[in-house]
Amino acid sequence: MIKYTIKTSDSLGISTDCLVVGVYADYKLTPTATRVDQSSKGLIKNLLKRGDISGKSGQTLMVPCGTNLLAKRLLIVGLGHQNKLNADEFSEIVQSTSKAIEDAGIATVVIALAEGSVSGRKVEERIRIIVENFSGFCYQFSRLKSNKAQLRRAFPTTVIFPIANKQAAPRAREYVNQGRAISRGVELTRDLANLPGNICTPSYLATQARKLQRSHQLKVSILSEQQMRALKMGSLLSVSRGSREPAKLIIMEYRGGSKSAAPVVLVGKGLTFDAGGISLKPAGKMDEMKYDMCGGASVFGTLVAAAELKLPLNVVGIVPSSENLPDGAANKPGDIVTSMSGQTIEILNTDAEGRLILCDALTYARRFKPDVVIDIATLTGACVVALGDPASGLFSKHDKLASEILKAGEISGDYAWRLPIWEQYQKQINSPFADIQNIGGPGGGAITAACFLARFTEDLNWAHLDVAGTAYKSGTQKGATGRPVRLLTQFLIERAKTRS
Ligand code: BES
Ligand code: MN
Ligand code: ZN
Repeated sequence: MIKYTIKTSDSLGISTDCLVVGVYADYKLTPTATRVDQSSKGLIKNLLKRGDISGKSGQTLMVPCGTNLLAKRLLIVGLGHQNKLNADEFSEIVQSTSKAIEDAGIATVVIALAEGSVSGRKVEERIRIIVENFSGFCYQFSRLKSNKAQLRRAFPTTVIFPIANKQAAPRAREYVNQGRAISRGVELTRDLANLPGNICTPSYLATQARKLQRSHQLKVSILSEQQMRALKMGSLLSVSRGSREPAKLIIMEYRGGSKSAAPVVLVGKGLTFDAGGISLKPAGKMDEMKYDMCGGASVFGTLVAAAELKLPLNVVGIVPSSENLPDGAANKPGDIVTSMSGQTIEILNTDAEGRLILCDALTYARRFKPDVVIDIATLTGACVVALGDPASGLFSKHDKLASEILKAGEISGDYAWRLPIWEQYQKQINSPFADIQNIGGPGGGAITAACFLARFTEDLNWAHLDVAGTAYKSGTQKGATGRPVRLLTQFLIERAKTRS
């Protein structure tokens, strides 16, 4: 990972390959830009006058420097109109900055962009935004390419943030740490998710969890199908019956809080490939169903971030992991299975399998006597239709918990939007033959999926995040995003503030 450091020394006094400064659209310069301008005979103001740069948001101009500056190059970045910059736009500016730095093949860089005012964000928060977006931009998944040398992109090894106010340095360092921990979590999530279904199987995920036991001192237990059978997880096991890869129930515990403190339990869907089962999906884009374990991968990433931040909380991650394939032994439409909760489920569509593996994992979560349970799942195409990719769908009957999650989304820029989970929708999933059926009618598919899970979380302080539209991108940009690790980690950071 790139090395990020805070320096309280004069930003113009650091020798570096590149100094990055911001200018506004109204010809105003940030403090460092002003000082560069003064020590270089009005270089920046001349460039603005000539129209080489206008200060438009996200615009970049790389200029080689003469001997009057210690930096070899100056990267001038447009910040748009002063006082109009919000955190989302600032994130985009950081991404164009990252691209300009990559294109120039720069090794060490001093970024003074956190001087720019961003509405509602303090300087340390702006620095964290830079760390997260810079790391996110520099992510690449090339482990399965044979010619790695040819693919290697030129990222800097060191990024320095100058801080003029020495008193602000400790907080800035704390926020750099947050950005680093979150980025590590996001990277792990993206790596696991981008791996194809033939490599990233339930057993592979179990092995990766075991690795975290050593690297991050998590307590890890893996339940085999036999152990799940003993627990009567008939719903989860019915999904994996049509697969040659054995299902795993992965349990990871981070214990940073007091022994008696009730944990936050995160339950992530770990469906390593979803062909739909007997209710087979169409061929187009079916490859993207390797991403059906993104919820589970985000639980791995969030636990890593929590452990690296040493948050004073207890967090338990539960990842039910299976494949969903057509087979002679697979679930058939009309089959009725008995879940661990004792409720019977009529499986009308074998492609609505996420809820079938989650319901048993949610029942299992009860043994941790949780303070909060949040499940994360690429659960429905309907959620993608409803919200697209800006926001994950949030469902909860608990207003306090819902508002905490929405707030964590606002702070982190990893947004969620609340949808209803009203009783009126429950009748869609009443079955004539069993206690419940696994699909509703044609309308409100994301909601009826949440209603299904609600039947297994009575009396729990529970929320559900449908990340089908946010966890990965399709098309030319195909790849995992690492969402909602930033949201979940922020939720934990906020919780740690009130509980310690
Ligand atoms: N994994 C899918 C949901 C999904 C769809 C995620 C598109 C990402 C993109 C889930 O298992 C599924 O197949 N859901 C069905 C439910 C339906 C049969 C009620 C769906 O959304 O079509
Ligand atoms: Mn499915
Ligand atoms: Zn699925």
